[in-house]
Amino acid sequence: MRRAIASDIPEIVRITNLAYAVEAFCIRGERTRPKEVAHLMEVGMFLVEPGGSGLMGSVFLRREGTRWYLGLLSVAPDCQGRGLGRRLVGAAEEACRAEGGKFLDLTVVSQRKELFGFYEGLGFHACDVLPFREPEKLILPCHLVKYTKALVPAEDL
Ligand SMILES: CC(C)(COP(=O)(O)OP(=O)(O)OC[C@H]1O[C@@H](n2cnc3c(N)ncnc32)[C@H](O)[C@@H]1OP(=O)(O)O)[C@@H](O)C(=O)NCCC(=O)NCCS
Repeated sequence: MRRAIASDIPEIVRITNLAYAVEAFCIRGERTRPKEVAHLMEVGMFLVEPGGSGLMGSVFLRREGTRWYLGLLSVAPDCQGRGLGRRLVGAAEEACRAEGGKFLDLTVVSQRKELFGFYEGLGFHACDVLPFREPEKLILPCHLVKYTKALVPAEDL
């Protein structure tokens, strides 16, 4: 696991769009493009897991005060189900804690109910409901379920 650099952008875009193809039943269009990833790299950072012929996984992190936001968690489809998603989230938590982060937040599209158990298994809990930001892309009705996890013991919050 390492922090991504600009030359990783094409691979981050490739594996993110491959991984998020699972959302094509409810959201139209590709999940991201090089310009967006380049911008996100300026306002935050990606952690990536290199593999034999490219990247196997990536995740975006951005500071929001003492909170951090985790987004675009992606494991290449042929690498899923082997613990890499769990390791990416664990590495993300470590990186945020090292920068003084106290909470890690993320959102899940409401149609992706299988992800609720995934994030709850990693210690997150649902804390809010938000509107989907690009309603013109929706094929089915969707909102965002916000999940959060404390990164430090309650007495240090
Ligand atoms: C979601 C995603 C990142 C998970 O990565 P992964 O490498 O397949 O997941 P892991 O193998 O690390 O699984 C981690 C744990 O979650 C569990 N898990 C996986 N799916 C689950 C589910 N539907 N419900 C409950 N637990 C689940 C696994 O059993 C595993 O637990 P274990 O370690 O105790 O066995 C990956 O499937 C992906 O990239 N999906 C497409 C993009 C996406 O949906 N991103 C998130 C958008 S919010």
